[in-house]
Amino acid sequence: MGPVIESHGLSHEYPDGTTALRDVSLTIEAGERVAVIGANGSGKSTLQLALGGLVDASAGTVEYFGETTDAETVRDRLGVLLQDPDDYLFNTTVREDLEYGPAQLGMSKQAADRRIERLSDRLGLTGLLDQPPFRLSGGEKQRAAVASVLTFAPDVLLLDEPFGAVDGRYRERILELMTAHDGAVVSFTPSPDLVPELADRVILIGQDGSVVADGPVREILTDGPLLREHGLRPPATVRLFDGIVDADAIPLTVSEAREFLVREIR
Ligand SMILES: Nc1ncnc2c1ncn2[C@@H]1O[C@H](COP(=O)(O)OP(=O)(O)O)[C@@H](O)[C@H]1O
Ligand SMILES: [Mg+2]
Repeated sequence: MGPVIESHGLSHEYPDGTTALRDVSLTIEAGERVAVIGANGSGKSTLQLALGGLVDASAGTVEYFGETTDAETVRDRLGVLLQDPDDYLFNTTVREDLEYGPAQLGMSKQAADRRIERLSDRLGLTGLLDQPPFRLSGGEKQRAAVASVLTFAPDVLLLDEPFGAVDGRYRERILELMTAHDGAVVSFTPSPDLVPELADRVILIGQDGSVVADGPVREILTDGPLLREHGLRPPATVRLFDGIVDADAIPLTVSEAREFLVREIR
């Protein structure tokens, strides 16, 4: 299948002189689940926009599907969820916002309606479809924005802070949709806690906008000093078990921690 996205030496400086990315080279393989983590201001959103072809990086290249460096020619294969849900919701009703992407891509009305109905049901939007988007709460807007990138089936999802202000129940639904997605899923988040549930590989961006680590979830998330050095806090289970059990046995999720405790205590 080969890589879906490959960047070489990506650097970006904003017009005011802020350097947001430094020499980022990475490869995302088809179907891979990757989390890009980093402190506030480390450059995650800039990287997401550059990989999504929405920001023209000052230096370096991004290649899509091993065939082109022009994101516009593969726009229908990229699902880009921007950090601010208000950037998607610009129609008069939530339904129109959800119909927009499929219509742009020439999907049949019937196929689009089926997908919109299923996603609205999963994400609790059914009763909100005829509302004007500006009236939704923060979490509702976020759910509508997530639905809008899933209305077509992109080969790559680039999701900037996909959980936003979403409550626990719908966080789980979004996680389920991400897990069920056939294509590659790249999530950008400042919070390592949910990473074990949404990725197999982690790319850690340092505060200077460069890649400081790229490897398996366990290797990076159990390295407390590394995370703290770069402005992050290790996941709760790691903080709990660190120093008590070997790094390779530390539970990474609450359900793993529970199994561990049941085994040890019983
Ligand atoms: N439009 C912009 N103009 C100038 N600086 C920006 C702009 N957008 C982001 N920045 C700066 O670039 C750096 C990286 O920002 P961003 O990519 O949003 O980081 P993150 O998503 O990791 O919080 C920060 O220092 C931020 O203040
Ligand atoms: Mg950001």
